[in-house]
Amino acid sequence: MAEYKLKVTTGSMQYAGTMDPIYVILFGSEGQSERSELHNFFINFQTGTTKTYTIKTSLSLGKVLLVRVEKDYFFGLLEDEWYCAKIIVTSPEGEDTLFPSYRWISRGEEVELRGGKAMKVFEEEHALLIEHRKKELELKKNTYLWAISDDKLPHNSHFKDVSEMQAELRFSASRSHEFLNTKRTIGVELLFKGLAGSNKRWKDIEDMKKIFWFKKTKMSEHVSEHWKEDDFFGFQFLNGVNPNVIKRCSKLPPNFPVTEEMVKPFLRDGSTLKTEMEKGNIFLCDQKIMDGIPAWMKDGNSLHVTAGLCLFYMNPESKLMPIAIQLYQQPSEQNPIFLPSDPETDWLLAKLFFKSADLLEYEAVHHLMNTHYLAEVFAVATLRCLPVIHPLYKLLIPHFRYTLQINTTARQSLLGPDGALSASTIGLEGLTEVMRRALSKMTYSSLCLPENITARGLESIPNFYYRDDGLKLWNIINGFVRSVVEYYYPSDSDVRKDTELQEWITEIFTHGFLGNKLSGFPACFNTAQDVVKFITMVIFTVSVQHAAVNNGQFDYSWIPNGSLQLLKPPPTTKGQSNMKTILEVLPNVGDTVKFAAVAWTLADKYTDAAPLGTYPEERFDEPDPKRMIKEFQAELSYLSEEIAARNHQLKVPYSYLHPAEIENSVTI
Ligand code: FE2
Repeated sequence: MAEYKLKVTTGSMQYAGTMDPIYVILFGSEGQSERSELHNFFINFQTGTTKTYTIKTSLSLGKVLLVRVEKDYFFGLLEDEWYCAKIIVTSPEGEDTLFPSYRWISRGEEVELRGGKAMKVFEEEHALLIEHRKKELELKKNTYLWAISDDKLPHNSHFKDVSEMQAELRFSASRSHEFLNTKRTIGVELLFKGLAGSNKRWKDIEDMKKIFWFKKTKMSEHVSEHWKEDDFFGFQFLNGVNPNVIKRCSKLPPNFPVTEEMVKPFLRDGSTLKTEMEKGNIFLCDQKIMDGIPAWMKDGNSLHVTAGLCLFYMNPESKLMPIAIQLYQQPSEQNPIFLPSDPETDWLLAKLFFKSADLLEYEAVHHLMNTHYLAEVFAVATLRCLPVIHPLYKLLIPHFRYTLQINTTARQSLLGPDGALSASTIGLEGLTEVMRRALSKMTYSSLCLPENITARGLESIPNFYYRDDGLKLWNIINGFVRSVVEYYYPSDSDVRKDTELQEWITEIFTHGFLGNKLSGFPACFNTAQDVVKFITMVIFTVSVQHAAVNNGQFDYSWIPNGSLQLLKPPPTTKGQSNMKTILEVLPNVGDTVKFAAVAWTLADKYTDAAPLGTYPEERFDEPDPKRMIKEFQAELSYLSEEIAARNHQLKVPYSYLHPAEIENSVTI
């Protein structure tokens, strides 16, 4: 007679427990157990509990390979899904094996859990496990499918509605509740004030401060107070929601004929543009990607999208100052170069149009495509190609939590015909075209922060906290990924032999980067170092980069500082504008509050957030990766202290990349 102890943990989220009977069969290397009900006295599978059960067999089963879990039904009651978190099996010899589950099990369902240490496909020896692995992958490939919504954009999951998804892919009950609650709170307040859907125009910019009574942050107040100031305009290209576009400028583009005379008054005494360029103090933002993008028709009138160029100067006080703005690509008399010395409202309008185009590009490219869409590609490839026992599945899956749900929801709402982005200056068609253009030019190195910063010449620009924190986080993630990958792939031949891993990267190359060889993205892996770099990029993109571009959306949602929609064309001559012109350019009340409401929803915080490096699901059974996770967490904790101390010294703190503020995955 042999006795096996099963420690069964039910999840701690709402409704995780069940009254239904649970049966298991243990499959071992030497045989299998009888189908046995897990039953003790009292209630068995309560939310957040761990209970121990005993299974007796006439002979030893050898090494326990699989646990088949089956949920029956408790007569007469409605479906009562069970969230089985994990089962730890203790053998008669006293050896523990972890069988992670972390999934919902419904009535009549049979689930086979794999346990023990992470295994690559070529390491499998037992016929039962070889067959199980094959069947698991077949099932996954039939469950998670690629869909193409636009043949020039990254492919997405086939789920059209959240209700089609497996329960463990969906938001927890608490998150769904909080998400809906935020939407309702916003909706009720805006309806109550008569702002939602209003076609009225703003009479005074200050009235926009009354959109929300209770939703304010220190930063949102700072933005509404300082939006007109040039140094704050420059600051945002380094530390706002779009720190991705500014570059060092050593030569003016031929279509931006800024002269020495124009900018001399804004440079240090006696200096010239040429000298400042040589010193590395001149920077450029070029919005050529927006050139020729079709604009949206609002109430029968076409809106106007600009594709500007802005020159910046890093002054001796280490402030990044805009010194010249041209709003269209082709210089002409009707497309003047605006200067800080122009009449106040002309210069303000130039900045307003430039920021608006920046916001459109940011939302389409740097937020939606480069983080949300890519995260979905990585998630679908992982779900399809890697079995749960694969070491990289264990490493990566926490970094895709809720991503399929948030993207599916976004496609229906934010990107739907009535969504906020449809009401932007370039509408959905324009935003999609911007994304297509950006994907055709996207490179692997642009997604790897150290290379991105070097390529943009931003290694030494002062007060660039996105770079400072981002590079430290890149290095910490890279160190963690290197330790895990080198542990599981001690030689490059292990990488080449791992057919599942090779299929994973091929799917990403094909469905994410559309097979574009010029992009530099790998289509296969040859060395362990290739894997380290790519997985560092994946984790960095879905956590750090998404936090950098997502979390400030409400802080910077003050519409005059950057609006997704502008109603009038930009000025073509100087000296014709006043504050009334600015009010005429800004969206009406209904559209303004629509944009503000989206910014609130998209930058909200949730109680079940999993910050970077926290792995509440225990998936690794062996001690080494568990130790590596602890070291990763310790590194993040040191960095948290460093960033908190730095922010304490700053007048405008940069908190988006404080590790506690970064989620493990794209969830919002
Ligand atoms: Fe987001």
